[in-house]
Amino acid sequence: MKTLEIAAKIRILDETELTLEQKNVVEAAKLATFRSYSPYSHYKVGAACLLDNGEIITGSNQENAAYPSGLCAERTAVFYANSRYPEARILKLCIVGKTASGIFSKNVCAPCGSCRQVILESEYRNGQPIEILLPSQHGIYVINGISTLLPFGFSYDDVNET
Ligand code: THU
Repeated sequence: MKTLEIAAKIRILDETELTLEQKNVVEAAKLATFRSYSPYSHYKVGAACLLDNGEIITGSNQENAAYPSGLCAERTAVFYANSRYPEARILKLCIVGKTASGIFSKNVCAPCGSCRQVILESEYRNGQPIEILLPSQHGIYVINGISTLLPFGFSYDDVNET
């Protein structure tokens, strides 16, 4: 029998340890929570992507009376970034959640499974990992690439295996 061990390293920084670029993406994601459309869950999510052309593209969760028709904040942001600037690479992605009481979530707002898959596709397009920033009340989780959150991801090369 062979065993494969999967290890993940996540750095948890406090705000003073962030670079200016990281701070700007976090701030943009927090602001995006105010543009959330979430009349059903009342959980407001904001996301922001820093692109290699310097642009910051944001998104927020967009809910729907037919629940599955809504979309998460980070997918809204990633799809918008890729459709607005198809040639640009996403360097950083921040996701933040805010509860119905208007307070940023105690814990990180980790991307759901579908969003992880979309981030993986974006990394494939980029040709490099995306730095994922997940603020919480006990620090900002900094994750270097979606494979940490989605080990054994199914990607372009699996479909096009020769
Ligand atoms: N949501 C996001 O936008 N991103 C996440 O990472 C987790 C969940 C949204 C979907 C839905 O509008 C609300 O949060 C509650 O699940």
